Amino acid sequence: MMNRREWMIGSAGAAATIGSAVPAGAQPSGGKKPVVIASANGMAACAKAMQMIQSGADTLDAVIAGVNIVELDPNDTSVGYGGLPNEEGVVELDACVMHGPTRRAGSVGAIQGIKTPSKIAKLVMDHTTHVMIVGEGALKFAEAYGYQKEDLLTDKSRTAWLVWKESLRSPGAFNNWVSMQQNLSAAATPMKQLRSAFPNVDEGTLAWAWQMAIHPTYGTINCLGLNAKGEISGVTTTSGLAWKIPGRVGDSPIIGAGLFVDPDVGGAGSTGVGELNIRVAGGHTIVDAMRRGVSPKEAVLEALKRVSKLYNDDQAILDKLDIEFYALRIDGEHAAGSLWGTHRSYKVYSVNDGGESRHEACVFLYNKQS
Ligand code: GLY
Repeated sequence: MMNRREWMIGSAGAAATIGSAVPAGAQPSGGKKPVVIASANGMAACAKAMQMIQSGADTLDAVIAGVNIVELDPNDTSVGYGGLPNEEGVVELDACVMHGPTRRAGSVGAIQGIKTPSKIAKLVMDHTTHVMIVGEGALKFAEAYGYQKEDLLTDKSRTAWLVWKESLRSPGAFNNWVSMQQNLSAAATPMKQLRSAFPNVDEGTLAWAWQMAIHPTYGTINCLGLNAKGEISGVTTTSGLAWKIPGRVGDSPIIGAGLFVDPDVGGAGSTGVGELNIRVAGGHTIVDAMRRGVSPKEAVLEALKRVSKLYNDDQAILDKLDIEFYALRIDGEHAAGSLWGTHRSYKVYSVNDGGESRHEACVFLYNKQS
């Protein structure tokens, strides 16, 4: 993801209200423009996927090639190589894929040592009768296909993990062993303490690492691709919650939560706090809403309302939570939404419909200024 970034943009074009529903039975985009959408960190992924779709590649091969860019990027600390590790300093990755044309799916959870888990999810789909393989079994499965276990920690992610360990001395530290609500108090960055504990690390990295320590990222990239024939596929891939308990699996590899594709309707995916999404089966909820004729924009808002209900619409709690949904219908209409925004500051998602990738505004359920 995403790294909990808020995007400050001028008020022009900020769509924040529920859009009008479209009639049921939206038709595939056959003969129309292909479209690729992704989370905000997916600009390059969208461009790569679009280039492949325009060259006639399969939609799933295209979106996987797109997210591979982010999985291999050591600077995206929420996905693949360089992703922030678990409590024990080990990177564990989750990913899933859905191929619309053949209605198939594949997934891996808590896989270690493989930079591109999305490719392993596709191998599960292509070569087994299973949908999901996790943990050591997933690594062994990847090794059977010639992948070699690698160290996925970078200097930056290792430093962040050590800073998180350091943060456990402070009252505002993030703790896996308490409720979500108990983890919401922020602590000021103790620069003096950090400078003395990490004399060789620059201040910018330390300040970033402290923010990651007390507000761990849930990361993730979701990417959905539609070709001119109206075929659609999707992929979601992540290193999941930073500092998680080893073995914790989020929403990203869960078919129906982190991703759902129905070739008769469209696709949807999510980034952000996986524990919220799993409890509302967000991907499936959105696709099913679109099946009823609800627009992508209204469908993501419907899923966000279900997330809000998890906390009885208590905005004081919801204010601290981060979740985004993405939806692409087979007629090419798309939308994305987050819990919070204002007309001047809102989250964005990546879109490519044939030219350069661009960011478009997410709709939001709650207006911070209201
Ligand atoms: N959405 C990513 C995770 O919660 O693991």
